[in-house]
Amino acid sequence: MRSYLSHLECTACGKTYSADEPHRVCPACGKVLYARYDLPHLRRDFSRGAIASRPATMWRYYEAMPVRNEEDVVSLGEGMTPLLHARNLGRQLGCPRLYIKDESGNPTGSFKARGMSAAVSRAKELGLRKLTVPSAGNAAGAMAAYCAQGGMEAHVFMPKDAPKANQQECVDAGARLTLVDGLIGDAGRISRERAAREGLFDLSTLQEPYRAEGKKTMGYELAEQLGWRTPDVIIYPTGGGTGIVGIWKAYEEMLALGWISEVTTKMVSVQSEGCAPIVRAFQAGADHAEPWQNARTLAAGIRVPSAIGDYLMLRAIRDSGGTATTVSDAEILADVKAMASAEGVYPCPEGAATLAGLRKLLKAGTLDPEATIVLMNTGTAYKYLDVLG
Ligand SMILES: Cc1ncc(COP(=O)(O)O)c(C=O)c1O
Repeated sequence: MRSYLSHLECTACGKTYSADEPHRVCPACGKVLYARYDLPHLRRDFSRGAIASRPATMWRYYEAMPVRNEEDVVSLGEGMTPLLHARNLGRQLGCPRLYIKDESGNPTGSFKARGMSAAVSRAKELGLRKLTVPSAGNAAGAMAAYCAQGGMEAHVFMPKDAPKANQQECVDAGARLTLVDGLIGDAGRISRERAAREGLFDLSTLQEPYRAEGKKTMGYELAEQLGWRTPDVIIYPTGGGTGIVGIWKAYEEMLALGWISEVTTKMVSVQSEGCAPIVRAFQAGADHAEPWQNARTLAAGIRVPSAIGDYLMLRAIRDSGGTATTVSDAEILADVKAMASAEGVYPCPEGAATLAGLRKLLKAGTLDPEATIVLMNTGTAYKYLDVLG
């Protein structure tokens, strides 16, 4: 197999760069770089039918992934997670076509495995051996695991109140953990300082091009699992935004490849009442989000006061005709139990937030209950037993 990776492109100023040297953000304007592929040739050479017989991991989309040499892929079997028909919740809510994309079975228990498998693989291929990341918890756990398998050094920086499971898994996987008295943004500053001082490569969310490539496979999978059609609605718990923008990028690529003929999905962002910069910016009609002050929520992964990819998330939500809503921590906690007791899926608080968001939008009459609706359960509740108890 060969990757059709062609170059990197800035999502803001459009400048292009070689994909075969390490880059983080756009050197010209500081915004997000995307990996780009030779889609016309990929369209000519490759059909989606070839994918069906490949192993059930996200690497089944290899040609549209950024690793040139298959030997450099660092994989723990991530991706191709189940798309479950949530019949019981659907009956309760009057939504006959309600689905849960259950990411909790990924290695390290969350969808962060996808981004880290892609980014750690590409870092390895580009000769980078010492990686660092600031994280609410799950990204750090994932990076620690992939670095362990790839024989690389992992440095992770988390708020000191990050879930205990995330701290422990990093230490046990051999990562160097620093707990920070502050939020994810503070962890990010320290991670970048240490990167500059010690020659580490920083994998902060959307501040290097390849984590989003792993996340985009959720979009490819949803289309494949629905018979190469897109769902009508995706409800996504939004923090740094790689999930939303990754799925949207997958749609653009699949359209160019002729793998799907149209995009029918409204992208819906759910955030916590205690930290909702994207919802606020969406409602204000803004292109960028102002940083959220005093961010607070028990859903650690969506406690992100400021995100470099704000303009990309807002663009995806608007271009899709989607919307954005907030939910309270009490609603999140209630819906952890509601999803577990109705469907047997034990969601992380962020995943439960999507169900709480769905209830809100149905009540407001914003969503068609007959639509094909996908709730993204981004991880497992087992990592949060200290905050759920
Ligand atoms: C479980 C979980 N859900 C959602 C998110 C937010 O993800 P994104 O960066 O894609 O917005 C995170 C990020 O830490 C997370 O850990």
